[in-house]
Amino acid sequence: MKRRCGPGGFGWWLCGAGAALLAGAVVAAQDAPADKGEQILNTSCLACHDLRPVQVTALDKEGWKGVVEAMIDRGAQVSEPDTPVLVEYLAKTYGPLPEGPGKKVLLNVCTVCHDLQRVKRTALDPEGWRDLLQTMLNEGAMLSEQDFPVLLNYLARNFKP
Ligand code: HEC
Ligand code: HEC
Repeated sequence: MKRRCGPGGFGWWLCGAGAALLAGAVVAAQDAPADKGEQILNTSCLACHDLRPVQVTALDKEGWKGVVEAMIDRGAQVSEPDTPVLVEYLAKTYGPLPEGPGKKVLLNVCTVCHDLQRVKRTALDPEGWRDLLQTMLNEGAMLSEQDFPVLLNYLARNFKP
């Protein structure tokens, strides 16, 4: 299905956001694989580097728009109508995180096996986060003894019940 979008400027943004929301609803309803934004990411963003620089970045829509524009300047092939769809997907999947010590650890250590949606969905007290971090260590997370309390504080403060 092709959606009709206004040409250029802000029109594309609104249209892209609507399309992404629509796609999201369809995915949720049918449990269908990969949304359009993810497809664009896989096609356009993995030509020069893997997903790693994306996984360790947490930005809002404006921030991601800047990154995507910088990558297009570098040579990334993203069509004009695809750009807002991609930005929407990036902001949704790799959205901003609260500032503070521990943010860097979370981005570097906790994105190796799964994205951070799992973390954002989880609300625990300090005891709960301690147990969960222990479970992740058992899974093989490379969380150093030094970083453990830093991350624990960060999680307990920002993702509490
Ligand atoms: C033409 C090659 C190329 C393509 C295609 C490309 N990138 Fe990059 N990207 C780079 C290079 C080179 C760097 C390292 C930049 C640096 O060291 O400053 C980078 C770094 C990044 C970073 C790290 C943060 C930053 O700004 O340096 C992010 C995030 C990123 N790319 C996202 C993307 C996304 C999203 C796409 C798809 C739209 C994409 N890249 C496509 C070349 C590319
Ligand atoms: C070595 C791989 C690996 C690393 C690294 C990793 N995890 Fe996990 N994580 C897992 C596995 C496996 C699961 C369980 C998946 C499942 O049951 O569906 C999981 C699940 C989770 C969940 C969901 C738990 C639930 O009950 O819903 C959270 C929250 C989580 N991880 C947080 C983290 C944090 C925080 C870090 C960084 C310290 C981290 N993970 C690093 C493998 C990893």
